Amino acid sequence: MKLVALALFGLLWLPAAGAQDAARADYMLHCQGCHLADATGREPYVPNMVNQLGRFLAVPGGRAYLVQVPGTAHSPLSDAEVAALLNWLVQEFSAPTLPADFQPYTEVEVAKYRATRALDIMARRRSLVVAMSNQATRRDRSE
Ligand code: HEC
Repeated sequence: MKLVALALFGLLWLPAAGAQDAARADYMLHCQGCHLADATGREPYVPNMVNQLGRFLAVPGGRAYLVQVPGTAHSPLSDAEVAALLNWLVQEFSAPTLPADFQPYTEVEVAKYRATRALDIMARRRSLVVAMSNQATRRDRSE
């Protein structure tokens, strides 16, 4: 109950707040019930996102995956709101792992990924994690 009151209070000052605050409020309302306020999640059911999201962005398909996971794609947020939320999310919780050439998500890009139904999200996640660890191995070898 306290949380709901806090969230509603947050909504009242939203129009005056910047995009960062809007994204933070969207995270509170639509995501943190599962992902928790500090994005550590509830392993093994909800993955820890702290310093992990940049690793997805570094492998092919990872950028689309972050939009197409059900929690993001099926949220009631607009494509522009999802783009702002993801841009905030990756900076807020995963800045150290962001690729140097990271380009912010745009509304058009989110709309494109959202229009494609994600088949077997867990299988896709597993293959992305394999790609990430192969990349890490290659990096280790080249050092
Ligand atoms: C009902 C619980 C739930 C809610 C609400 C939820 N998520 Fe998730 N999220 C998950 C689970 C579970 C996964 C793991 C992949 C899967 O099974 O969908 C996940 C995965 C993710 C991932 C990929 C991270 C990874 O390691 O696979 C991102 C990014 C993400 N969620 C963002 C969001 C955003 C943004 C919101 C709010 C708009 C949100 N989620 C709401 C449960 C949730």
